[in-house]
Amino acid sequence: MAKKPVTKNNQIKKDQKETKATPPKVTTVKPTTQKPIPKKPAPQKPKVKVLDNLSILKSSPYIKQKNDSKTTQKHLSLKELFEKSLLSQKEDKLEIVLTGQYEQALDLMFEADASNLYPILVGPPGIGKTTLCRYYAQSRAEITGNDSFEWITFDESTKPAHLIGSFNPATTIQKGFSFEAFNPGPLIKAMLNGGLFLANEVNRATEYTQNSLLEPLEEKTLSVPHIGRVKASSGFFFIGAMNPSELVGTHRLGEALKDRFNVWIELDYPDKKTEMKIIEHNNPYYKVEESILEKIYLIINRTRTHHQIQTPASLRSGIALARLTGVAQKRNKAEEPNKILRNLASNVLFGAIQTKPGVKSKDVISNIISQVLGSA
Ligand SMILES: Nc1ncnc2c1ncn2[C@@H]1O[C@H](COP(=O)(O)OP(=O)(O)OP(=O)(O)O)[C@@H](O)[C@H]1O
Ligand SMILES: [Mg+2]
Repeated sequence: MAKKPVTKNNQIKKDQKETKATPPKVTTVKPTTQKPIPKKPAPQKPKVKVLDNLSILKSSPYIKQKNDSKTTQKHLSLKELFEKSLLSQKEDKLEIVLTGQYEQALDLMFEADASNLYPILVGPPGIGKTTLCRYYAQSRAEITGNDSFEWITFDESTKPAHLIGSFNPATTIQKGFSFEAFNPGPLIKAMLNGGLFLANEVNRATEYTQNSLLEPLEEKTLSVPHIGRVKASSGFFFIGAMNPSELVGTHRLGEALKDRFNVWIELDYPDKKTEMKIIEHNNPYYKVEESILEKIYLIINRTRTHHQIQTPASLRSGIALARLTGVAQKRNKAEEPNKILRNLASNVLFGAIQTKPGVKSKDVISNIISQVLGSA
């Protein structure tokens, strides 16, 4: 069995205490010094200060100011911002909650990798499939030293060239169909680097595109038009992730492709303890007390058992509700937390659930809210 990279106890190292929200950075332009032109003193008018949304946010009682927020910031060009962001992506270490089903799934992914088998994660939207794969890629890189990780999220318009790569027309005219004219796609990169490739939402691809995965998965080779067939370096690993096929927008996973995924990992809505931890972990702003966190969980969980709901709320809704409630509580300290939660729940749930035909979302939502929080 492969070595696990983290233990249960060190899984969330982030400071769970209340953290400061960084205020938006603005460039202030110093007024130029001009010689004062002497003129008759005008009668003093009361000053009317027009606030823009940034100033309102900065002066709001719930957005904490950093001491240096008023200093002039260097205005970065788009290129500089782009480079800075590329760098920080590399440095950002992903931390996740790794209990219950997530820990078991991660173990299985390591085992599949070690046995040269291809796993696929299946679960409803917002359950943590992509997050777990990203975490797996990071752990794999820490263990093996190979940090090659490529991924693509499939949809109807994804073509084989998006995976394999394509020829730059201008260079092709000059140099012909040569390697110099070829822009390698993410699948080729992962194969040549012996890295990890994640086929996210793989069943949203058409059968035509799905079929381009057959050869890499069976033979570990891939044919590049005009160049030849390349073989994957050792270490190449492939993970699929998808929503269950009965969901709208998905295609049938072709039998041949289905047969090449040998380890099926089903993820479902997590147990109460795990989901509450995930909600808390993803709320770095203003924490909500445990009893409110539990009510948030109960509201979200109720959407999953309600007989009039077709698509329930995902983890994202619980996270959103906790963040909103925390910020609103900070702003309105005198308000009863239950009341704040009652007011905000429908704002989060309205678009997050889909009711069965003929049922109004509003009715179902207020029914759930009064079941969990009591009637207003
Ligand atoms: N184990 C976890 N620890 C911490 N946060 C998590 C965990 N699992 C999921 N999340 C959070 O839940 C949210 C949804 O997760 P994610 O995007 O991975 O879901 P998904 O299953 O890939 O959804 P979709 O099917 O819509 O693509 C994200 O905000 C993510 O940070
Ligand atoms: Mg996803």
